Amino acid sequence: MNNEHLHVMEHPLVAHKLSILRDKNTSTKDFREIVSEIGMLMTYEATRDLPLTDKEIETPICKTCVPTLDGKKFAVVPILRAGLGLVDGVLRIVPGARVGHIGLYRDETTLEPVKYFCKMPKDVSERDILIVDPMLATGGSADAAIGFMKEYGCTNIKLMVLLAAPEGIARIQKNHPNVDIYCGAVDEKLNEHGYIVPGLGDAGDRIFGTK
Ligand code: PRP
Ligand code: URA
Repeated sequence: MNNEHLHVMEHPLVAHKLSILRDKNTSTKDFREIVSEIGMLMTYEATRDLPLTDKEIETPICKTCVPTLDGKKFAVVPILRAGLGLVDGVLRIVPGARVGHIGLYRDETTLEPVKYFCKMPKDVSERDILIVDPMLATGGSADAAIGFMKEYGCTNIKLMVLLAAPEGIARIQKNHPNVDIYCGAVDEKLNEHGYIVPGLGDAGDRIFGTK
């Protein structure tokens, strides 16, 4: 299912960790830790195209030119609540990243996202943006979040999710064709309540132990 803008992780560590998340008997503590670990592994992939510049240094042996990150500005933007579970994994790989927050919840009847919070770094329009959320179901939340970031003037936007439904991928690719989607796995479908099947249930409730 990979294509130019869809990157599905094909790594045994990610597959194994996702299987633990899917298990309904996984504890809140383990769930939270594993979401963070997958966040870290996926960030490795999602930052593959960060630009490098050469810098001269001196090794114990001689002077040499070495590749270094060119300091391009980067921000991770979790969609609250569940996206918070991925932030720590991203920051372990890119410790200098700024963090913007978008608070959205899905209306249980319409399944449309409702915005309740938004706080971005001042210079967010100059930053490369990685929006994170464990679940891409109907795609309504991610669609809205990408729309907000575009309103802020951001032009380089990526979306990182653990599980995606084909419906959500289709919505993002239709409305935001230039946004790269990084996902741990693509599941079969949505059920009548808009949950991903087989999925892992309600990601926010499982991360925060609210059910
Ligand atoms: C979940 C999930 C996504 C959204 C995905 O959040 O974390 O944000 O649903 O569904 P969609 O693709 O159909 O929009 P939820 O609204 O349950 O809020 P929460 O993170 O506060 O639990
Ligand atoms: N949100 C979740 O947390 N899980 C789903 O399966 C769909 C939306």
